[in-house]
Amino acid sequence: AGAGIGGVRYLQTVIPVNIKELFSHPPQLNSLVTARGHIKSIRHFKKVGFIDLSDGSHYRNMNVVLSSPDSTLSALNLKVGQSVSVTGQWVESKGAQKYEISYSPDDPNQELRIIGNVTESYPIQKKSHTLQFLRNVPTLRHRTSTLASVLRLRSFAETKLIEFFNAHNFIKVSPPIITSSDCEGAGEQFVVESNKKSSSAGVHPSFFGGKTYLTVSTQLHLEVLAASLNRVWTLTPCFRAEDSNTNRHLSEFWMLEAEYCYVDKLSELTDFTEDLIRYVTTSLVDQNQNSVSGASLDLLAARYKKEDKAALQRRWETILVPHRWPSVTYENAIGIINEHKPRGKADKALEWGDDISTEQEKWIAGEHFKSPVFITDYPASQKPFYMKRSEKYDPAKPTVACYDLLLPEIGELVGGSLREHNYEQLAQNMDLLHMNKEDMDWYLSTRIEGSVPHGGFGLGFERLISFLSALENVKDTIPFPRVPESCPC
Ligand code: 4AD
Repeated sequence: AGAGIGGVRYLQTVIPVNIKELFSHPPQLNSLVTARGHIKSIRHFKKVGFIDLSDGSHYRNMNVVLSSPDSTLSALNLKVGQSVSVTGQWVESKGAQKYEISYSPDDPNQELRIIGNVTESYPIQKKSHTLQFLRNVPTLRHRTSTLASVLRLRSFAETKLIEFFNAHNFIKVSPPIITSSDCEGAGEQFVVESNKKSSSAGVHPSFFGGKTYLTVSTQLHLEVLAASLNRVWTLTPCFRAEDSNTNRHLSEFWMLEAEYCYVDKLSELTDFTEDLIRYVTTSLVDQNQNSVSGASLDLLAARYKKEDKAALQRRWETILVPHRWPSVTYENAIGIINEHKPRGKADKALEWGDDISTEQEKWIAGEHFKSPVFITDYPASQKPFYMKRSEKYDPAKPTVACYDLLLPEIGELVGGSLREHNYEQLAQNMDLLHMNKEDMDWYLSTRIEGSVPHGGFGLGFERLISFLSALENVKDTIPFPRVPESCPC
């Protein structure tokens, strides 16, 4: 046991040093160091050779200099993709990196050893591959600097979410993935089918004793927990059997959901949503500005040099506009679209009650407001049963106190609302949609046992990462994308 942080004792575990740690805590010059990773490229000149080694911990590769390239390369038959371990001398580098490892086979204390070989068809080579090609090699694509950096970005964003919610005294909770209800009421659930082993031959009762599904949103359970814990949040897988193969949809995606009590104005929710997304983005900008002091573009890889880096910067600036994000009602939004958005001959003007299309969403955020924009107070007919009526409620045009956050180039990123906390009104909403109230009695009970006003939202995590990383397709922002007709591993 070692000395503790802040007086707390902890066990000192030792794990092998990785390449990021070698860069961030450089060993003494000329000492012997060991690095392990995959070979990304091999360069062979007359008197010297180079191996680029990557272990994914950092966007930079470790440069290994071979002082006798002929004998080393031929003796070992080194190839791109092999995992290797190299023990050599830690020396200053003449190249872009400050340090590198020099390997000489003549020194008995040094060693270059193949840990794992590759087949002739190892697909990841030094040339850059298209993202589409990489989707066909799901077990190897994260060895590329681009996709590894996106996963590092995901991990970074998660830590920033935790910081933000902690700072606002939210409790992180773990709602269930298996559920008996359809939160969004859109009938897009995957059914969980499993039978119980039964002793009496031929009888296989359903495992849970009733119909169960993979959750489409954990909101209903978060509402229950918020009523006990005041403010809760989660980042959880959600599943939707939507047959849409677009660059914004996944069958399995991760949703950030937050729910809190005693909120009674929609603007409180939209302000909170904006602050959250600004916090993650500002943290990202700060982290990347560290590159000046040498700590580097740790999160985003070499892909984002030059023009790409400028594109990234523009995206982040879109989020960090120096004014609060605009908020317009659905009614005003369709007015703006009808008045200003160029329409093809076949396009009809939007009428009250019509859906705003993805193309129109992207236009209003990207072209009209040139910033993220909240659209509020949608027609009740377009939204689920749990939403509260709008503050200014017109029975001729019934709307609900909800919002969608639209981002340029992405469209919808967040959906949220005030929740109906009055039992009679909620029951009426359910009756109108012919929902079975008995199946939902657990949820309805929260409205008769000390009901409190509350609200919350859900944010598609892959869509956020896609926007922040400027990778257009959400399939490249999740390690193993599940989409219709594709679940290869
Ligand atoms: O607007 P949605 O359907 O809202 C809800 O599910 C609420 N119950 C959330 C809440 O209030 N707690 O989904 C929220 C967000 C969308 O804005 C979108 O970003 C993302 O989830 N999303 C998807 N992301 C990837 N693939 C899909 N198939 C998605 N469906 C929704």
